[in-house]
Amino acid sequence: MNAVRFVALVAVGLLAASLRAGEPSASERGKAALETRTFNPAPWPLSAYGNAWKHWQPPLKQKPADYDQAFRDYYGLHPAPYANKDLPMGLRHGSRLFTTGIANDCMICHGGSILGKSYVGLGNASLDIHTLFEDFNKVSGLGKLPFVFSNARGTSEAGGMAVYLLALREPDLSLRLTPLELGLKDDLCEDTPAWWLLKKKKSMYHIGSSDARSVRSIMQFMMTPLNGRTTFEKEEKTFADIQAFLLSMEAPKYPFPMDRELADKGKMLFEKSCVKCHGTYGPEWTYPNRIVPLDEIGTDPARFHGISRKAGEHYNRSWFAQEKGQEGYLARETNGYQAPPLDGVWATAPYFHNGSAPTLEDVLNSKTRPKIYTRSFRTGEEDYEQTKVGWKVQVLDKAPAASEPGVLRRRVYDTTQPGRGNGGHTYGDALTPDERRAVIEYLKSL
Ligand code: HEC
Ligand code: HEC
Repeated sequence: MNAVRFVALVAVGLLAASLRAGEPSASERGKAALETRTFNPAPWPLSAYGNAWKHWQPPLKQKPADYDQAFRDYYGLHPAPYANKDLPMGLRHGSRLFTTGIANDCMICHGGSILGKSYVGLGNASLDIHTLFEDFNKVSGLGKLPFVFSNARGTSEAGGMAVYLLALREPDLSLRLTPLELGLKDDLCEDTPAWWLLKKKKSMYHIGSSDARSVRSIMQFMMTPLNGRTTFEKEEKTFADIQAFLLSMEAPKYPFPMDRELADKGKMLFEKSCVKCHGTYGPEWTYPNRIVPLDEIGTDPARFHGISRKAGEHYNRSWFAQEKGQEGYLARETNGYQAPPLDGVWATAPYFHNGSAPTLEDVLNSKTRPKIYTRSFRTGEEDYEQTKVGWKVQVLDKAPAASEPGVLRRRVYDTTQPGRGNGGHTYGDALTPDERRAVIEYLKSL
């Protein structure tokens, strides 16, 4: 090959490479889609944000001075770590008939904060989604919510929402005239899993009922009756990009000093008692993707039983399950809860599928778990419990009376209520206090 041709070829090669470098990757496109788009039309006018305080409990005489902060505190939202027109993470501008309104997006539940810093992909452990939607509906002249969207702050009835919306659709996603009876339950109290765990999982959701590679499954949150089949088909590519972004995420690192020696002791104990369900960590990680039978794990059964067989069958007949042509990604029945990977577990309190254990210490000692308690629902250093690892709580003698406003009742986690039981997972009970401290020290390093 002569020199001129060689130089020309190299130049073309470089040009092609730089073009490729300029094009966003699938995960970059997915990140941009999450941070800039809403996949549902906006239900509320822009004025809903500024007027919501008129329904706060106890009632206020005037709008709070630092309204943005007061609004985030009241509903459990966090500043957006991306441009969001001054709205908190999880709310955003969207189209509403011929104007602009407010919509919610995935980050209302999947955008959280730890030590005062917001993260896309950390579950929102502060949110009172029922109160937020209820107040926005009130100030917008819209009706009551069709069922309970959350029973305890930081958890939501995401499963109930999916069942409710699925019941309005035929398998081809056209709208039904009357909703199907799919046995909707609204006391599952679901804690939102961190997105960075998805890349290790073969099956997802707390009971491992779906293939973790299903793109259409995570499109269920687009089911507002205003979205037709063509919109779902059009956005499938976008959701494949979103999935690529979720699969690229890494857990945040523990920011405080750690006792390495103690952590090494904890690692040995972890290898003995925990690895068989939760896997190993580091560059050569393994994850067994184990689903532990309900009677063995013994945690609250409501989420396990909460989605009816009928709902599963309807899902499996629908567009959502037909993803890979004939084969499809069918939802399946399992026999218990999936032992999650524990990467970044220092940041994901409260624990268990229903958020019933506020700290790792509570996870590892079933006898001392608090029964009825509240917390600040703020996420600063002063709200974080560094020794037990998780949220500081204030234990109460009794739960608020049923006559109290819902927003106040939802601030109390009452483990005697349906869906909120804090029993089971007794694998840490036999550890001595020193051993437990060592295991917790090790868990900080994951
Ligand atoms: C109302 C709150 C809420 C909204 C909005 C929401 N999610 Fe979720 N998401 C959850 C909860 C809760 C779970 C766990 C459900 C369960 O298994 O009980 C979950 C589970 C998931 C999972 C599986 C995680 C795992 O490891 O098992 C993915 C992926 C996911 N959501 C993606 C999304 C995307 C993408 C959006 C936006 C299109 C979205 N979610 C909107 C609350 C929400
Ligand atoms: C037999 C399997 C099994 C063993 C052994 C086991 N776990 Fe678990 N673990 C689970 C399951 C299943 C869950 C989820 C339960 C639920 O959410 O209802 C869980 C949940 C957890 C959680 C909460 C995770 C979260 O994000 O909410 C932590 C932390 C944890 N385990 C730590 C440990 C440690 C440390 C050990 C060893 C002392 C251990 N586990 C032993 C199965 C196991």
